[in-house]
Amino acid sequence: MLDSTQFKGYNLWVAMSSQVKPQILFSSQEIETRVRQLAAEIRKDYHNKRPVLIGILKGSFVFLADLVRLLDFPLEVEFIRLSSYGRGKETSGTVRVVQGLASEVKGRHVLIIEDIVDTGLTVAFLFDYLRKEKPASLKLCVLTNKPSRRQTLVNIDYLGFTIPDKFIVGYGIDWDEKFRNLPDIGFMEAED
Ligand code: IMP
Repeated sequence: MLDSTQFKGYNLWVAMSSQVKPQILFSSQEIETRVRQLAAEIRKDYHNKRPVLIGILKGSFVFLADLVRLLDFPLEVEFIRLSSYGRGKETSGTVRVVQGLASEVKGRHVLIIEDIVDTGLTVAFLFDYLRKEKPASLKLCVLTNKPSRRQTLVNIDYLGFTIPDKFIVGYGIDWDEKFRNLPDIGFMEAED
């Protein structure tokens, strides 16, 4: 797997993106180890349930892709795209569905896959939205959690990393659509 030092064009990419550059928080190797551990937990709970894993676009796409390839039992993958309006790095708290599910989840075991729980408003909205569809069960798997920013109660069933109140990028997670292709997770820090 690539790491940031091998990532061709990475420095150029950083230089092109104005006054900010990501500092590495979790390397691709650390992420891979943690995702394997999460997959083992999920396997134990879901191997005979044919779950539907719902990735929240766009930020979860890399995490979901790595996770499902470590799950060796029948499952289905769906995506939902949500949008919260806000300026810069802040969510407005108003969440809406931009692209809904392509299939029904009634009576199914649903596992939501999310990149970050920050204020918690996005996953709280999705829980309310999906509960109305009457799934057999509804759980949440999150790669990173910023508990210091929480505005609403969220129960995370499977968690990769607890992180400080920093704006992170990489491994599918963006800043203004940049850095999704960074193999590590970094945080944004202004250059002096
Ligand atoms: P919420 O505040 O928990 O509703 O998070 C909403 C969404 O904001 C997440 O799904 C992410 O897409 C985005 N987000 C929150 N924190 C960060 C961050 O540190 N980096 C990039 N995106 C973030």
